[in-house]
Amino acid sequence: MNRKLSAAIIGAGRIAGGYDTEKIGSDAGVYTHAGAYTRDERFVLRTVCDLDGSQAESFRKQWNIGSATSHPEEIYTDYHDVISVCTPDTAHFEVIRNILEHGACRTIFAEKPLATTRDEIAHLRRLAEEHGVNLVVDYQRRFDNRHARVRDLISRGRPGLLAVNAFYMKGLEHNGVALVDTLTYLCGPPDAVLAYNRVFNSTVGEYSYDFILFFERFNATVRTIDTDSSEYHYHIFEVDLLFSDRRMTINDNSRTLEQRMVGEYAYGGVKALDDKNPLREDTGYRFALPAAVDYIYEITVNNKVHDRNTPESSLIDRAILDAILLSYENKTKIPMGAPV
Ligand SMILES: NC(=O)c1ccc[n+]([C@@H]2O[C@H](COP(=O)([O-])OP(=O)(O)OC[C@H]3O[C@@H](n4cnc5c(N)ncnc54)[C@H](O)[C@@H]3O)[C@@H](O)[C@H]2O)c1
Repeated sequence: MNRKLSAAIIGAGRIAGGYDTEKIGSDAGVYTHAGAYTRDERFVLRTVCDLDGSQAESFRKQWNIGSATSHPEEIYTDYHDVISVCTPDTAHFEVIRNILEHGACRTIFAEKPLATTRDEIAHLRRLAEEHGVNLVVDYQRRFDNRHARVRDLISRGRPGLLAVNAFYMKGLEHNGVALVDTLTYLCGPPDAVLAYNRVFNSTVGEYSYDFILFFERFNATVRTIDTDSSEYHYHIFEVDLLFSDRRMTINDNSRTLEQRMVGEYAYGGVKALDDKNPLREDTGYRFALPAAVDYIYEITVNNKVHDRNTPESSLIDRAILDAILLSYENKTKIPMGAPV
């Protein structure tokens, strides 16, 4: 049997492990890096790092990790096969750049967004190429087979896609970027962008925008449920796709996929979606992180070439976010250039 791959986690918060230790009810899903590595016998979680030493130590105990540190340099000057970067958004660039410059691993599994500007993302892409390191960004829906099936259906062009509606909350940079990534994964890069409204989400300290992505044959309208107050209602991350013969909704939080086919209606000659008998199935979202870690294993041992969730797709996402900001400021539709 192949040797186990060593893994380290930098940033020991919720996506690193907390979501799995604080789960409510009997949900068997795996929502964290530590949860996914621990479940996969081909990995051994060797080190955890958090600037807050007591957080690192309690995380180490919780997940039975070899060692804990509050000094990231100890990870940069060591070697692990894989390093997960789960720090807050603004720390991603510096941490990832340090890992790359020190040649501290073969694969980096970075939380989204990869970095906060196009220059930073381009810089990390260059460094990763120079050092021969796989840089994988955690947009989980790209690791789910059901999302892949919807993507295939759209790319076939039959049935035709007529319109897309989507909902998100808690900030364009924070959560909107994941919705933009999901839409570009499903539909490809848009031709143009128009932002027409925004509200300030004081919980994350940034604006959530309402915007439209224009594609050749359809538009995707993206709305936030945030309001100009700090009131928290609920999480939502929904993508509703209206095809010529069916409606497919990746519901609420990506956990189920609902399909309504065109059927007969109560009157002769009237076609309508069959809202009484929707087909409903689970997506693989609850196990997307284990699927991501499986992919990470395969590219780290060179069984596969790294071609998913790359810095290139993050550059496209960032270009769309920049166009949304510019569109809102200039009150005009912004054409998108050629993809990176
Ligand atoms: N992919 C997803 O579905 C998903 C979901 C939630 C969060 N995220 C992303 O994950 C990242 C972390 O979010 P979170 O909610 O887990 O945050 P969190 O605040 O719960 O945890 C972050 C941890 O990183 C530590 N930290 C901060 N700077 C550090 C540094 N330079 N070196 C080492 N440790 C450092 C903090 O002390 C904290 O313990 C964010 O970028 C967020 O956007 C992604």
